[in-house]
Amino acid sequence: MTAPRTVELRGKRIEITQEKRARLLAEMPEIEWIGDTALRANVTDAWVAALEASGFAKISDMKPSGNYDSRPLRSGTQADHMRSVCRLALKTAEEMASLFPNFTYDRDVVVAGALCHDIGKVWEFHPDNVSRWKQNPRATGMPSIRHPGYGVHICLTMGLPEQIAHIAGAHSAEGELLVRSLENTIIHWADVTFWKVVEAGGQVSDTDPWLDGELASVSGQPRK
Ligand SMILES: [Fe+2]
Repeated sequence: MTAPRTVELRGKRIEITQEKRARLLAEMPEIEWIGDTALRANVTDAWVAALEASGFAKISDMKPSGNYDSRPLRSGTQADHMRSVCRLALKTAEEMASLFPNFTYDRDVVVAGALCHDIGKVWEFHPDNVSRWKQNPRATGMPSIRHPGYGVHICLTMGLPEQIAHIAGAHSAEGELLVRSLENTIIHWADVTFWKVVEAGGQVSDTDPWLDGELASVSGQPRK
């Protein structure tokens, strides 16, 4: 059992307890698939700290969409998205490894990277931030920092390996400016596959209640 730990993120001191870790693992059980004990513990702690520093109680409290202003899933949560990307990415890696004898990949990096790829959404999707940005987009930008950028901040602050910070920072459009690692390439396409296939399959909502309707106060839309 890993000892409780105190970390500082965005100026907040966060006590990472066994109880908080257990809650996080219940929401994202694929973390148990990470073979390396230290990496498994660090992914868990990074999520606990990221949520608590932002004010979200759980991953599923975030809008289930790709970006703060894109339409959400009809059903399912942000946690479901990351768990599904993890499983899709692993299946891709296993398929290629079964086909090509010399195809090698780091399974722990695929699992940990997929489960952390959107960790920066705690910033981009936070209602208080969205509300501020919408009131004055020219003050700090809108969003000020996309989830890949903030994800790098969390990963490096929490001591996650460079490979995982790279996946958080370059799984999306930011990755077009560099060469993605093998594991990040797998996760990037699993992420794209997820959103494109759920859209084609009619699983994306026609409206955005998080920004326009009954959930506006949760999403940060200024009240009219
Ligand atoms: Fe994603």
